[in-house]
Amino acid sequence: MISQHRREGPIVTLDGPAGSGKSSTAKAAATRLGFRHLDSGALYRALTFGLLRSGLAEKEWAALGEEEFQSLNIDLETTEHGFQVLVAGQEVDSELRTPGVTEHVSAVASIPASRNSLLALQRRTGVDGRLVADGRDMGTVVFPDAEVKVYLIADLKERARRRLKEVGECSPDNFKIARQAKALDTRDRSDTQRSISPLKKAEDAVELDTTGLEFEEQVQAVVDLVARLTLF
Ligand code: DC
Repeated sequence: MISQHRREGPIVTLDGPAGSGKSSTAKAAATRLGFRHLDSGALYRALTFGLLRSGLAEKEWAALGEEEFQSLNIDLETTEHGFQVLVAGQEVDSELRTPGVTEHVSAVASIPASRNSLLALQRRTGVDGRLVADGRDMGTVVFPDAEVKVYLIADLKERARRRLKEVGECSPDNFKIARQAKALDTRDRSDTQRSISPLKKAEDAVELDTTGLEFEEQVQAVVDLVARLTLF
């Protein structure tokens, strides 16, 4: 008889468009719950960093196979509160947020072989449960059996303001907001319209509109939902 591995706690997924506050909310909610946090976007960024560093011409990327993506050697090291991303054994953090990586990551994430190359690695992080995973396809593809699924949305301009604040622009003018909103909208379109694992709300996800919420309120909303749906 096959024995089913029992998780020690639930898996919570947070999906949504860029700038909806997924990663920061997921990280804070995980800390409060005593769970680990997986930032799956960082894995696609790591693949992009690896490709840029390899020097392979960008026009060749789409034809790469799963094994070639795997040879970039993206891995995760378990830490106290989450996971450290490694590229060929090297710890990467700030390298993943450079303009070059941000510019190319959406294209890399839309290549089926790149997504397949990261699937097993992501699923391993949820084997024991007690995980808050954020991304675009956490509730639909990576953890379809997650106990709690949240789909975060927020008004486009508000998301643009939040992104600018992250890079130190606390009172941007309308022009800057519009330019940032356009960039986010372009990425949203690419993420929602790709044929593989597009960004979409899982049927059993709870939608949470964070437009009018303070950061603390949105973290609390996720924690409350976990408590309500899992009695955790
Ligand atoms: O959340 P982020 O900005 O770090 O994500 C970077 C890119 O990776 C973004 O274009 C969407 C993509 N992504 C994805 O396709 N699937 C995920 N699970 C996470 C991110």
